[in-house]
Amino acid sequence: MKKYSIILICLIGISLQAQWTQEKGKGYYKIGAWWLEADEHYTSTELVDPNATRGLFITNFFGRYGLNDKVTLIGYLPHTRVYQNAQVFSSGREKIPGEQFSSLGDINLGGSITLVSGSPARNCRPGQIALSSVGGAVEAMARALAKEISPRIRINIVSPGTINTPMVTLTGTEREKLYESMTKDNLIPRAGTSEEVAEGLMYVIKNQFVTGTTVDVDGGWLLN
Ligand SMILES: NC(=O)c1ccc[n+]([C@@H]2O[C@H](COP(=O)([O-])OP(=O)(O)OC[C@H]3O[C@@H](n4cnc5c(N)ncnc54)[C@H](OP(=O)(O)O)[C@@H]3O)[C@@H](O)[C@H]2O)c1
Repeated sequence: MKKYSIILICLIGISLQAQWTQEKGKGYYKIGAWWLEADEHYTSTELVDPNATRGLFITNFFGRYGLNDKVTLIGYLPHTRVYQNAQVFSSGREKIPGEQFSSLGDINLGGSITLVSGSPARNCRPGQIALSSVGGAVEAMARALAKEISPRIRINIVSPGTINTPMVTLTGTEREKLYESMTKDNLIPRAGTSEEVAEGLMYVIKNQFVTGTTVDVDGGWLLN
């Protein structure tokens, strides 16, 4: 009886916020749906660039039912679906599969998060204090978060070494020399490729038994 009284007080509170009550035995029910979809983004030079289609689809049920003329029962149940479509490359590069997850109310029904750090997080070279600090924080946060969101959501990190990407704007021999000098002491003395990092990313995304892990794709940077 005590429990019943407490529940009733909560319901009255909600009903007062709504400012009027539902007539006894009568109800008001509403089903809603909306979605948001994006398949491009603005670059730093204000051009529009395509990206994999990502979307958010929300359907929800809202209902009010008059238990008596003073007490109204109110229910709200949202269902959320988040997705990213597969990416297909005209270069013939291997397709990157899509991913999706759903949630009902506040209950997560599954999913996977992958973050990127970098080798300086655990083997810092002179001049890399900022990279080391940010990467280290990302890795520590992911390990802490893994415990909070398991077992339905997994979180992992991929930590690249020196990778040949457009982040370096030099071209020709200048570019080659820079990568040579940056990687000459690594066990595999060359810059890695984006595809090699993508393989690490796909591994932690696909493998349902991996969480709280850091995968190093670094040509042996950590042992240097
Ligand atoms: N390269 C390395 O050696 C290396 C090593 C360790 C870690 N990392 C880390 O790996 C990550 C990627 O590095 P990267 O070398 O691939 O860099 P990058 O070549 O500069 O690429 C960055 C990418 O992010 C995109 N981007 C930027 N802002 C965006 C936004 N608001 N929305 C959607 N996309 C956005 C850029 O798109 P636009 O070009 O269209 O702007 C670009 O495709 C970084 O976090 C970096 O710190 C890199």
